[in-house]
This record gives sequence, structure tokens and C-alpha cells, in this order.
Amino acid sequence: MVEDCSAINKDAFGTKPHKKYPVVLRTVVLSLVMISSVYICSICIKQKGFIINPNVMRVEVKDQPCRRPSIPSSEFPYIHYPDPTTYNRNECACTPVRFFALLSMQRSGSGWLETLLNSHINISSNGEIFSVKERRSNISTIIATLDKVYNLDWYSSASKNECTGAVGFKWMLNQGLMQNHEGMVEYFKKRGVTPIFLFRKNLLRRWVSVLANAHDRDSKQLNGTHKAHVHSRHEADVLASYKPNIDVTKLFLDINHTIKWNADAIRFFNNTRHIVLYYEDIVLNRTKVVDVLDFLRMPHRELKSQHVKIHTRPLPDQIENWKEVSQSLKGTKFESFLHSD
Ligand SMILES: *[C@@H]1O[C@H](CO)[C@@H](O)[C@H](O)[C@H]1NC(C)=O
Ligand SMILES: *[C@@H]1O[C@H](CO)[C@@H](O)[C@H](O)[C@H]1NC(C)=O
Ligand SMILES: *[C@@H]1O[C@H](CO)[C@@H](O)[C@H](O)[C@H]1NC(C)=O
Ligand SMILES: *[C@@H]1O[C@H](CO)[C@@H](O)[C@H](O)[C@H]1NC(C)=O
Ligand SMILES: *[C@@H]1O[C@H](CO)[C@@H](O)[C@H](O)[C@H]1NC(C)=O
Ligand SMILES: *[C@@H]1O[C@H](CO)[C@@H](O)[C@H](O)[C@H]1NC(C)=O
Repeated sequence: MVEDCSAINKDAFGTKPHKKYPVVLRTVVLSLVMISSVYICSICIKQKGFIINPNVMRVEVKDQPCRRPSIPSSEFPYIHYPDPTTYNRNECACTPVRFFALLSMQRSGSGWLETLLNSHINISSNGEIFSVKERRSNISTIIATLDKVYNLDWYSSASKNECTGAVGFKWMLNQGLMQNHEGMVEYFKKRGVTPIFLFRKNLLRRWVSVLANAHDRDSKQLNGTHKAHVHSRHEADVLASYKPNIDVTKLFLDINHTIKWNADAIRFFNNTRHIVLYYEDIVLNRTKVVDVLDFLRMPHRELKSQHVKIHTRPLPDQIENWKEVSQSLKGTKFESFLHSD
């Protein structure tokens, strides 16, 4: 760009005025040439600035009225001032909003973590919105859905609407996320969405939970309704009374698949600002959830959930064919799943 500019200038000024033109005409032509070259150069410079730093340009132009001096510039890519189409943010129009996505796999504690986050006055996590197949049918429907969520136009029981400080939702890796990972990484980077990964370390326990949940979906043990999460010890005990008979081949397939997907997901989103949590770590140390508040730059508060853990007993009491399962895992790199808890 700059080279082009100077080429034009050189040509313009290098052209010698012809003797037979009158002085006035020469001056007029020279002035015109000077004005237009200044104009062309200013366009060049503008475009160069724009190409070098498109993000800064965009943020500054759009969000200038709400910029607070207390927010460091390194945070600018992650703060937003959405303008919902369906309502007005009123006195919170200048409350900055952070975008997150809780990325996880089924039966890894994400329902629990989400209720903890939603008990915070400033956080809205809108649930498993891509469990509805039409919303994930292709990248266009996914992006339209995301745009609605991050524009604070999504309604759910978790919406705190105009005064939300952090907005997101829960997304299982197998709900169109891994199939569309390239587009999603691009979207997350462009819009400053920060992933919160939540994985489970003990993939044998996860599989027990998957099987028990699938069983309850069919048998509806709690007064004829299926419950994926429960709020009382009694209900938890009813669901935990089912002891699955585990097909060892399927168990290994699931463990391998889950390990691969979790690693791939972290790798794909490696260059986004993110945090990785493990269910077991949070169960052992509830204070770990504070790390999420710090990550989202939200004030510390006590977080509460009504969820009651379903499977609390030792694994041998929860697997029908324990002997077979334990023998097949012994001596493999997954042996620790048998003991750790
Ligand atoms: C995406 O899916 C929606 C709904 O299923 C459909 O209406 C739309 O045409 C699809 N778009 C593309 C680009 O495939
Ligand atoms: C949290 O919510 C309260 C009440 O709506 C609001 O006054 C405060 O500014 C919010 N804080 C953040 C960090 O969003
Ligand atoms: C079924 O419903 C009855 C009455 O509504 C309640 O007392 C009972 O605890 C429920 N049973 C289970 C397993 O949730
Ligand atoms: C799972 O991975 C292990 C090694 O990581 C391999 O030995 C085993 O054959 C795999 N099992 C299946 C069912 O893919
Ligand atoms: C993340 O990406 C960077 C550069 O793209 C690479 O150097 C680094 O090894 C990656 N880290 C992981 C954990 O994949
Ligand atoms: C619990 O987690 C918090 C936050 O990560 C950490 O600061 C603290 O040291 C942990 N406590 C224990 C006992 O591990």
C-alpha cells in the first residue's frame, strides 16, 4: 500500500510543467495534483491502520461510549456491550458482558457446575441449548443460535437479562461442536468467547453414569419421569440402585473415544483464552469453582446447587459384573479408574 502511494507521489511531482502553459494554469494543476496525492495517501494510511489492527478499530468505534478506565486494555477483546433486539439494557447498558461456553461431555458434572454458576447474580448460563437438533443442523444455524445467546436475546430460566455480567451456555462436544470445530474456533476468537472445559478423570465412573442414565430414560424410575439430575438423597438412591452389566468392549471404546475428544478439544481451542477443570477436583475442593469466577472476572460469592450426587458408593457395589470389569482394566493404563475416587 505504502509503496504504491510513494510511486504515485514520485510520478506526480516528477512530471515537469510544460513551458507553454501559463503560470496560473500550471499552479492550478500542481495544486490539484498535490491535493489528490495527499488524499490518496491519507486513504492508504487509513487502510494500513485498519489492516494492522482490525479488532482494536472495531472495539473502539462500537464501544467507545461505555469504556471504563478501570478495565485494562488486554481485557478489551473479552468485554462486550450487547444491544439486545428484544429489550433495553437500561441502567446496565454499560455493564460489560463476558462470553463463555461450558464445554463438556455427558455425565461429567456440567449440570452441577452450571447450577452453581447460575446461582451467581451476575452469571447466566442458558443450559444445553444444542441438545435441540435443528439448532446444530449446520454451521449457519449454530452461529445464528450463538449470536442470539451472546446478544442477550436468548430466553431461559437462567437469563438475568439486562444486568448479566457473563453469559454462556453448556455445550457437549458431541453436539455439533467437534464436527464444526474450525468454524467454532474462528467464531470464539472473533467474538472473544472464552471456553470453560469441564472433564471427568474417572471414565469408568462416567460410563456407569451414562448407562444408569440411559436405563432411567427407558424405565423412568421416579414416579414415571426420567431425571438426569436429582435434588434429594432419596431420588439419588433410587437411581443408583440400578447396577449396570458392563460390556467391556464398549467400555474401552468409550474410554478411548472420550480421551481422544477431550484432548482434541483442548488442542483445537488452545489459542483461545480458556480454563480446564476436572469434575473430581471440584468435588474434592469446592473452592475450585472460585477459579471460574476469577476466570470470568466476576466478584466472589458463595455458589449453591440443589443437585445431589447420584453414585456415591464404591464402584464394586455399582457394577453388576465387577469381577469381569476389574480384571479387564487391571494391567492397562486405565487401572487407576478401579481405585481412584
Ligand atoms: C441449515 O439448516 C437450516 C435448518 O435445518 C436450513 O434451513 C438451511 O437452509 C441450512 N443452511 C445451509 C447453508 O445448509
Ligand atoms: C453484578 O450485578 C449487580 C446487580 O445487578 C450489579 O450492580 C453489578 O455491577 C454486577 N457486577 C458485574 C461485575 O457485572
Ligand atoms: C412419587 O410421588 C409421591 C407423591 O407425589 C412422593 O411422595 C414420592 O416420594 C415419589 N416417589 C419418588 C420415587 O420420587
Ligand atoms: C483403546 O486404547 C488402548 C490403548 O490406548 C488400546 O490398547 C485398545 O485396543 C483400545 N481399545 C479399543 C476398543 O479401541
Ligand atoms: C498450543 O498452540 C501453540 C501454538 O499454536 C503450540 O506451540 C502449543 O504447543 C500448543 N499447546 C498445546 C497444549 O497443544
Ligand atoms: C482449593 O482450590 C483453591 C482454588 O483453586 C486453592 O487455592 C486451594 O489451595 C485448594 N485447596 C486445597 C486444600 O487443595
